[in-house]
Amino acid sequence: MTPATVEVALGARSYAVRIGPGLIARAGDEIAPLLHRPRVAVVTDATVAALHLPALLAALGRAGIEATALTLPAGEATKGWEGLRACVEGLLEAKVERRDVVVALGGGVIGDLAGFAAAILRRGVRFVQLPTTLLAQVDSSVGGKTGINTAQGKNLVGAFHQPALVLADIDVLASLPPRDFLAGYGEVVKYGLLGDAAFFAWLEAHGPALAAGDAGLRAEAVRRSVAMKAAIVARDETEEGERALLNLGHTFGHALEAATGYSDRLLHGEGVAMGCALAFALSARLGLCPQEVPSRVQAHLRAMGLRCDPAAIPGGLPGPEALMALMAQDKKVRDGRLRFVLARDIGAAFVADDVPPEAVRALLAEALAGPAGRGA
Ligand code: GLY
Repeated sequence: MTPATVEVALGARSYAVRIGPGLIARAGDEIAPLLHRPRVAVVTDATVAALHLPALLAALGRAGIEATALTLPAGEATKGWEGLRACVEGLLEAKVERRDVVVALGGGVIGDLAGFAAAILRRGVRFVQLPTTLLAQVDSSVGGKTGINTAQGKNLVGAFHQPALVLADIDVLASLPPRDFLAGYGEVVKYGLLGDAAFFAWLEAHGPALAAGDAGLRAEAVRRSVAMKAAIVARDETEEGERALLNLGHTFGHALEAATGYSDRLLHGEGVAMGCALAFALSARLGLCPQEVPSRVQAHLRAMGLRCDPAAIPGGLPGPEALMALMAQDKKVRDGRLRFVLARDIGAAFVADDVPPEAVRALLAEALAGPAGRGA
């Protein structure tokens, strides 16, 4: 299988997203054309380093590229002020110069952190994303959102800094724990739901084989997801309008993640999948789409083994008011009004900033009561 290429068309900051097997093994040849001198600094985490760093360093070496590696602790806690400091200082100690390239090898945490470090190091150095999770391959590695979390919330400090190249190696997905793969699949489904009904139907047909490990189907799902994201980012890089559609499921999802303390009780992609189910349920409740539409969304998520029911989150959740308060803190709130991505059908999402709070409250109350509370 030869790699596919999706272009992110942003004028002078355009770049390629290469998708396929064996891309770590050929990373040296892929990255070499970007370099002014044969030297890069790799940023990764301890888990990913154990799995993939030797192969990357060997590939860079074969292309005559010298590499330093900065290995940070794995986990969301690294994506904060201390992690940023360690990353920036590590890159300065590695003597990264203004015209050098930083390589981010890892999932969303490493991509967002190393991307932000690259954005501010020497007022901006180029970086390459080598995403090692499905979620990072289809979402966070593409589009240039970089940043860190603070005590006030997630991703509240950051910069738009586009990578110079993204290498999405499909082979690395085989090393993901099934739960992480499935959480990333939540973001894949999001693309079908927000703008491509044919892709959603394709996922209904091929999702189970893809989850079971079919590399060709995985590559195609990543390619179609990235193509959709690239087209949206090219039209609206800094989220003045259309890019907000990529937040389908995120207003509910972020509130659920915050309510569960960003712990492994609910992974980000699981929150997005649950949030998508809730966004479609809200759309039906508001009379924007027939009830069959949210039922079809839920049926697919369930068939894939993704939970749709907030009531099923282990450890329980606070009540609807507390979740509403968490949503009000979301950075997608504009002029104090709750903004949701809603849908008129599968593949037909739009941004609504006039959603009546009582409809959201009623939906949450029902969802928190679980299927029994709904009389199902
Ligand atoms: N993850 C949403 C975006 O990149 O806009």
